[in-house]
Amino acid sequence: MPAKLILLFLIIFIVFSENEGFRFKHMKNNYLKSNNSNSGYFYKTLYFKQKVDHFGFINNDEFQQRYLVYGGFRPTQDGGPVFFYTGNEGDITWFCNNTGFMWELAKELKAMVIFGEHRYYGQSLPYGKESFKDPTKLQYLTSEQALADFAGFIDYLRSDWYPGQKVPVIVFGGSYGGMLSAWFRMKYPHSVQGALAASAPIWQFTDLVDCGAFLKTVTNTFKHHNPTCADNIRNSWMTINKVANNSHATLEKSYETGRKTIGDTFKLCKPLQSIEDVGTLKAWLQETWVDLAMVDYPYPSNFLEPLPAWPIKGVCSYLSKPLTTDVSLLQSVYQAVNMYYNYTGKASCLDINQEATQDLGTMGWDYQACTEMVMPTCSNGKDDMFEPVEWNFDAYSKQCQKQWSVTPRPMWPIIQYGGKNITTASNIIFSNGLLDPWSSGGVTESLSASLPAIIIPDGAHHLDLRSTNVNDPKDVTQAREKEKDIITQWIKDFYN
Ligand SMILES: *[C@@H]1O[C@H](CO)[C@@H](O)[C@H](O)[C@H]1NC(C)=O
Ligand SMILES: *[C@@H]1O[C@H](CO)[C@@H](O)[C@H](O)[C@H]1NC(C)=O
Ligand SMILES: *[C@@H]1O[C@H](CO)[C@@H](O)[C@H](O)[C@H]1NC(C)=O
Ligand SMILES: *[C@@H]1O[C@H](CO)[C@@H](O)[C@H](O)[C@H]1NC(C)=O
Ligand SMILES: *[C@@H]1O[C@H](CO)[C@@H](O)[C@H](O)[C@H]1NC(C)=O
Repeated sequence: MPAKLILLFLIIFIVFSENEGFRFKHMKNNYLKSNNSNSGYFYKTLYFKQKVDHFGFINNDEFQQRYLVYGGFRPTQDGGPVFFYTGNEGDITWFCNNTGFMWELAKELKAMVIFGEHRYYGQSLPYGKESFKDPTKLQYLTSEQALADFAGFIDYLRSDWYPGQKVPVIVFGGSYGGMLSAWFRMKYPHSVQGALAASAPIWQFTDLVDCGAFLKTVTNTFKHHNPTCADNIRNSWMTINKVANNSHATLEKSYETGRKTIGDTFKLCKPLQSIEDVGTLKAWLQETWVDLAMVDYPYPSNFLEPLPAWPIKGVCSYLSKPLTTDVSLLQSVYQAVNMYYNYTGKASCLDINQEATQDLGTMGWDYQACTEMVMPTCSNGKDDMFEPVEWNFDAYSKQCQKQWSVTPRPMWPIIQYGGKNITTASNIIFSNGLLDPWSSGGVTESLSASLPAIIIPDGAHHLDLRSTNVNDPKDVTQAREKEKDIITQWIKDFYN
């Protein structure tokens, strides 16, 4: 054999033996029980070749999609159910780390655990570093393509990992991942037996819910801990405007003085150089209050930031009395946000340009929000504690054209996924925590016997998907019990 060919053969052999799917078939159980000791959960990382475009026949590009797999709970003989997490907008290991309930249930029901990464996030970038640079490379970032990826993988799973066997597959997801799991069961009912869609705001679209509902829910979560706290936050916007404008003087110098006062009070990393910067500060504060409502968990957690139990209680301890002077109000708002960003005491300054977390793919989500995932929000300052802002689709759309060269199609998700007319679907659990702002766009009343809604009054953003904890409120424990019973029934029904 000529040397060149031997080399080629060797390369092919190496590539082939690195191919996880190939090894998988031959090593099955042993292989599945191997673990990744870096992680709290013992999974193996696999890659699956996907088509970049599932819906056209011109672009034949392919990419490697990442999956995390653990098979150690499976019965020693073949079989058992598969639990598949439909990954959302971020690094899949992050969701894996924050979805302990799926692991606990898999152990109990002897299920295989798989987490599928969403295209254009984490390591699953169709065009590597170029994925976000060119609109023609970015256009394959859609929920439909992501669902088709999952469908392709589950088909491969059934035929290659479990040939000739009856395998019930249940999909799980939280937040956008929950929307995907619900939509997956609607669009590919032959592929999976049911879906647990936790904190999935499938109705947070144009004309389906009031645009003010989201920020109203944030406000209610703060009020729930302390009504005065919400009032102080409502008053803070005017105070910031007033101080930033330094209404006692009109000279340019005085404007600078007012902004400097705010910058110093909040120990900002960069001074507030313009009125636009003051807008950035207010947007950052608003996002901080929203994020706090999402992660108002009953025990210390580190989902977006390291935080104590019931973080809003902690934040509101600084804002629990009426604050009447500008100085005391600004100082207290600073102390409150400082608890959120500086709970570890390591922040030397506060950065108003900081992303909520490094693990979320904010670029990708920004693009999705500019195409299909248009979720209108507004506030009036009365029903909520925010500055009055109307929903302005034209301005939103212009910003999208400027940033991504795309025009949003806000009605498409409703045409595509049915809006409120989804009673032809079945076997989807919609769970929502009422502290979670996203519950405002969720399904909070059962739509049919096989589309049950589960409400968790003391729950924040997909609390039910997190690991059980001694400090869990009773209602989340009950929600998990119900979810377990329903999923167990789906599996039973499938075998019968
Ligand atoms: C996973 O690997 C670590 C380190 O090699 C080991 O300590 C641990 O017991 C293993 N866990 C399982 C479930 O195999
Ligand atoms: C998931 O948890 C493991 C440790 O348990 C950690 O090494 C890894 O970085 C975490 N992943 C993310 C994205 O936080
Ligand atoms: C400054 O004053 C103007 C007019 O009163 C107002 O519209 C604006 O919101 C104020 N605040 C800031 C930060 O611009
Ligand atoms: C963060 O906390 C530490 C310790 O309490 C403190 O020294 C530091 O000034 C705080 N950072 C900010 C931005 O307030
Ligand atoms: C969908 O539901 C809404 C509200 O229930 C109703 O007004 C509308 O006519 C329905 N649309 C279709 C296509 O069934």
